[in-house]
Amino acid sequence: MEFKTIIEPFRIKSVEPVRMTTPDERAYFLREAHNNPFLLPSDKVLIDLLTDSGTSAMSSRQWAAMMLGDESYAGAKSWERFYAEINDLTGMPHVLPAHQGRAAERILYGHLGGKGKYFFSNTHFDTTRANIEFSGGTAIDLPCPEARDFDSDKPFKGDLDAEALEQQIRKVGAANVAAVILTVTNNSGGGQPVSMANAKAVAGICKQHHIPFVLDCCRIAENAYFIRHREPAYAHLSYREIAQEMFALADAAIMSIKKDGLVNMGGFLALRDPKLAEACTNLLIITEGFATYGGLSGRDMEAIAVGLEEVFEADYLHYRIRSTAYLGEKIRALGVPVIYPIGGHAVYVDAKRLYPHIPPEQFPGQALVCALYQTGGVRTVEVGSVMFGKYDAKGAFVPAQQELVRLAIPRRVYTQSHMDYVIEVFDAVQRRRAEAKGYRITHEPPFLRHFTAHFEAL
Ligand code: F0G
Repeated sequence: MEFKTIIEPFRIKSVEPVRMTTPDERAYFLREAHNNPFLLPSDKVLIDLLTDSGTSAMSSRQWAAMMLGDESYAGAKSWERFYAEINDLTGMPHVLPAHQGRAAERILYGHLGGKGKYFFSNTHFDTTRANIEFSGGTAIDLPCPEARDFDSDKPFKGDLDAEALEQQIRKVGAANVAAVILTVTNNSGGGQPVSMANAKAVAGICKQHHIPFVLDCCRIAENAYFIRHREPAYAHLSYREIAQEMFALADAAIMSIKKDGLVNMGGFLALRDPKLAEACTNLLIITEGFATYGGLSGRDMEAIAVGLEEVFEADYLHYRIRSTAYLGEKIRALGVPVIYPIGGHAVYVDAKRLYPHIPPEQFPGQALVCALYQTGGVRTVEVGSVMFGKYDAKGAFVPAQQELVRLAIPRRVYTQSHMDYVIEVFDAVQRRRAEAKGYRITHEPPFLRHFTAHFEAL
């Protein structure tokens, strides 16, 4: 007998209280934070859906493993366990530990990049693009055409457009292509999965042109879940075997372990090529730490070695993907426009369609982010013109392509009743959608303004 309720496949051993607030208090806190939830102290937030990165709850096995942390500078036992786990998962002989994903990105893309070098990806995550551009290189996104349609139920909207990739390689010349990066799942593209068929096609193109193929694999376990349930050829493999098959296609992998590693900090760069590994290890030692710890302490490496095992457990992944879908499907049923199908780590709401009366220059996503906090103490993040909007040479506003709000779900942290509460908050917010007002920026820094900008309601 199959039951409908997806239970959390764990019991709670340690709890962290969250604070209830009144609407008046929240209005005050939001004013103090200049209508930017990034500036709210976390104890003023009831349910924090700002990110799924570094916000996981660790298991009792992970906490126990931390006591085994060997903090030796070189050749620690914890390094051996960390290496063995990542080597088994990726099949790559060279593993470089880093304190988080972007540190590994800086090392690899700093080395491969530079002026005149091109990178292609299904979608570069912000820090990936920033590291490439900082090196002087050019990052070009080539999402598949289905990614633009928010409503169709296409199973793999995270795919890279392989035809466009071939055209681009011909246009810029294979020798000028530093790498092709497949981001699984595609975070900036709605958290949508990438199919194995697409990974194989991309790997084939890269091989033919002698271009390094890199997996940005921070949510590869979640991606493996979608492959097993949507790509018939993979229904008989375990989630871990599916991930291993995808790694086998790649020349390198970068992971922000803060996501599917089920830990609060960590990253790695895994490589096949010994020459590239040597060059990157030199950079690692200069900027992160010695080769057997990089940016991590021994206890971090212990927790990671366990987390990377636990994340592939069938009960965990089933709960993880189904509970994200639970939230997305319920708010969709209320009439809230979302990117569909629901992705692995987050639900993306289309604020442009929720608030059609608020033009992009008045930031409909920011209006929704503020409404969710004001109504129920729920913190989310705008992924629209606040984050990606620009000004042209004449100072005119150039909006982002999309006005989204991301509800990222921390792993193993919230229960179904927390999500039922978020759904009720959405119901209240969408009932009052016609009354919502836009915002204007009153203060902004020159870079990455979404973190610190100040806003005023219009
Ligand atoms: N690649 C992807 C696909 C990511 O989503 C992130 C981080 C990184 C690389 C960088 O890793 O944060 O460990 O340095 N994403 C977080 C988010 C910040 O909220 O989506 P990092």
